[in-house]
Amino acid sequence: MLKDKNIIVGVTGGIAAYKAVEVVSRLKKQKANVEVIMTKNATKFVTPLTFQTLASNPVYLEMFDEPKNYDVEHISLAEKADVFLIAPTTANIIGKIANGIADDLLTTTIMATKSKVIFAPAMNTNMYLNPIVQKNMDYLMELGYEFIDPCTGLLACQTHGPGRMAEPVDIVDYVANSFYDKDLVGNKIIVTAGPTIEPLDPVRYITNHSSGKMGYKIAELAKNRGAQVVLITGPTSIEPPKGVRVVRINTTMEMFRAVEDEFNDCQVLIKAAAPSDYRPKVVSNEKIKKKDGENDELNIEYVKNPDIAAHFGRIKTNQLVVGFAAETNNLVEYAKEKLEKKNLDFIIANNVSADGSGFKSDTNIVTIIDRNGEINDYPILNKSKVAEIILDKVMTLINDKS
Ligand code: PMT
Repeated sequence: MLKDKNIIVGVTGGIAAYKAVEVVSRLKKQKANVEVIMTKNATKFVTPLTFQTLASNPVYLEMFDEPKNYDVEHISLAEKADVFLIAPTTANIIGKIANGIADDLLTTTIMATKSKVIFAPAMNTNMYLNPIVQKNMDYLMELGYEFIDPCTGLLACQTHGPGRMAEPVDIVDYVANSFYDKDLVGNKIIVTAGPTIEPLDPVRYITNHSSGKMGYKIAELAKNRGAQVVLITGPTSIEPPKGVRVVRINTTMEMFRAVEDEFNDCQVLIKAAAPSDYRPKVVSNEKIKKKDGENDELNIEYVKNPDIAAHFGRIKTNQLVVGFAAETNNLVEYAKEKLEKKNLDFIIANNVSADGSGFKSDTNIVTIIDRNGEINDYPILNKSKVAEIILDKVMTLINDKS
């Protein structure tokens, strides 16, 4: 959420200026205060009125317009910006900034700002790969300017290659992410999420109600806070967060092996997934046929799956292992038992039969219990907020270890 953040959006003269409209719209949806500066060429692609309407703020065009409110515009904009985003960014403006040219309102404001400046390049592939443009970008990156890599694909000029501006949703994610304190930098965090599926036959399987939302929110926030994140996920219907390494699994055995592959060099394992404790002893190669006649029962024998959290809780050295407890009653008592039995560093207990808690919902109601016996109850919160609480506790334990 970008509530009350001042985002100055510079729009330059490229066909991708039409995508800047969606960028501004998405920033506003995240409650940012957006002000737009357009270059003269940009107005040939999109009218200032479009941005003025979307941003609910006047659009700044030329340096020497009648000042709207007696400030020297480029100084007041430069000073008020929390983040300065230029989308699209043409080769021309990259070249100007890299060479200290400030000959219009946009370049002058960029030169005057002390806030983070983020460029979203958009240009023909040959221009983008031109050594001059590449050298200018490298130089600006050395000075701390940031670039959102363009996509590779079919460009408006019908050529194929890098140069298409990043998608608006990714640009806005990048801007939002820039506000996070990167306190988890240097940590590899494994997050498991979602259900597992245990096949009965080629047609049927056993699973559970986990949607993956809780684990995905933890993975996304850990990435935003600078961690290297490996998300090991069962089959879900939601998109995993960008910028994390996704390992998809089906069965608990596969999840176990995936965690085993990643565990040795991780700092934290967070087990938000709902792995099945049992699997059918026999998996039929053919669809199990319904038997007509007097016997209406189908009895299936199950065998136990490995307890992944318990295994890694047992063999951990410097790693933190964090688990969840999905209960329907005796929440704290059962969670305390799991904390001990699985040798967890702390456990997040949630009642999966309560409204707004546990499976599928965007919210959760958790109780966190740690090894010192400290118990913290939380009210109903967004899973993003629960993820923040969990990662803050992880950060505290990491700091305690160092
Ligand atoms: O995915 P959502 O729809 O957002 O729902 C979130 C959630 C309810 C799935 C999540 O908040 C949650 O409670 N996850 C843990 C579910 C679970 O399996 O709880 P459990 O009490 O059965 O297991 C305890 C811990 O051991 C868990 O960390 C679990 O990941 C782990 N476990 C369990 C079984 C097993 N074979 N291996 C394990 O590692």
